[in-house]
Amino acid sequence: MTIALPRPWRDRAGALSPLRIAVLAALCLPAAGMFFDLATGELGARPFEDLQDRTGWWAAWILMASLAVTPLRRAWQWAAIVPLRRMIGVGAFAYAAAHLLGYAADWGFDLVHVAGEIAKRLYLTIGFAGVLILSALAATSTDGMVRRLGGARWRALHRLAYAAGAVAVVHYTLQARLDVSGPMTMAGVWLWAMAARGVHRLDPDGRPGPAVWLALAAAAALAAGAGEIAFLSGIKTLPAARVFAANLSIDAGLRPSHVVGLLGLTVAAGSLLRTMGPLARQPRRGAA
Ligand code: HEM
Repeated sequence: MTIALPRPWRDRAGALSPLRIAVLAALCLPAAGMFFDLATGELGARPFEDLQDRTGWWAAWILMASLAVTPLRRAWQWAAIVPLRRMIGVGAFAYAAAHLLGYAADWGFDLVHVAGEIAKRLYLTIGFAGVLILSALAATSTDGMVRRLGGARWRALHRLAYAAGAVAVVHYTLQARLDVSGPMTMAGVWLWAMAARGVHRLDPDGRPGPAVWLALAAAAALAAGAGEIAFLSGIKTLPAARVFAANLSIDAGLRPSHVVGLLGLTVAAGSLLRTMGPLARQPRRGAA
């Protein structure tokens, strides 16, 4: 019996794929950085805590990247990106598993204590739900599992990635203390990715144009700004007017609304180039 080892750097035809190699390298780079810092003693007094924050951050952002694949394919008419989604999703799972491992390591692998903490603290219980979802998705990410489950059931199961994204945002927000810029930026990106799917369904010809992507960018940026104002004024009791003012300039650095808006604008600009710029798709030969 021969076991087919995964060869993520090759495409379905078995050819080396520069795009796959680039994405694989990008997925491995943060882990390489962590190993390097661990080996050179750069991690500070509580190395496991540091590793845990970094693995959690990467798990969540890689998950957001996997959720952005479908909108990017539609906005940029970039079909080649779709086969990379599974690799990116498995990458998110790997960082999430390392994140949980880091937590257990920080408690000296006292698993009874770890389980007790997860049961007791809401943000950890929510994080655990995220690990469970990502484990189910990673375990069913092979071609064999797609065949075994059948396309429709597999797709329905893999829609749980949307819930995993929401779980990551809530877990990230709940563990943040005063600075919620990271969680609110992620919330804006998650909302953008979800709204992009809704817009696609509402669009009669299923191909939203640059104006739609522009509107989505603005809506997601507003949502991220509103989330930051609500969180900081409602829960942390900072004056709402001050947080609002910070969103109108960049004197206090880029706020979540700015980052989400810029990311959304990049997608809209790509859509514009694909529609009418030098990268515009030529109509298929023979098409009316
Ligand atoms: C049982 C599962 C999990 C446990 C026990 C756990 C635990 C933790 C802990 C203890 C922190 C640090 C809190 C602090 O610094 O005070 C943290 C932060 C974080 N976790 Fe998790 N987590 C879990 C699952 C997840 C999952 C599934 C994701 C994402 C997919 C995630 C993403 C994050 C992020 C983004 C942070 C913030 C990192 C930062 O401060 O930059 N976690 N987690």
